[in-house]
Amino acid sequence: MTTHFHIFTWVVGIILFFVAYFMPADAKAQKIVHMITRLFYVLIVISGALLFFKFSAHDPAQYGVKFLLGLLTIGMAEMALVRKKKGKPSTMFLILFIVFLVLTVGMGIHLPIGW
Ligand code: HEM
Repeated sequence: MTTHFHIFTWVVGIILFFVAYFMPADAKAQKIVHMITRLFYVLIVISGALLFFKFSAHDPAQYGVKFLLGLLTIGMAEMALVRKKKGKPSTMFLILFIVFLVLTVGMGIHLPIGW
């Protein structure tokens, strides 16, 4: 059990998020990219949860924070995409997404498995 699959899912997920976010919101292809992005949210949570159930007993508090930060990052991504699609201001959620992303990656690297 390594972190490789988890890293693969969130790297692809982040790239898809940025592609979906900066595409014209009314384009047909945007809908498809957003759908695939959502599929990767699920893969990120599954791969993260598998790591969590396997390793969190070492340090439940810190692993709990990682879990929460990961979910918040995904939440901000989805809020930014949905608000942009509706023509509402979304920059704040884009910024929050980047902030939580940095915190989540920092926490992931700080935890003992993998890097
Ligand atoms: C966009 C969202 C996410 C990002 C960017 C992210 C990023 C990372 C990174 C950088 C690592 C360290 C990998 C390594 O050291 O080899 C990691 C590990 C981990 N992630 Fe995530 N993650 C995300 C979502 C989640 C979610 C939703 C969960 C829980 C359901 C989760 C649970 C974990 C666990 C348990 C580890 C192993 C920590 C360790 O012991 O090193 N992650 N993640």
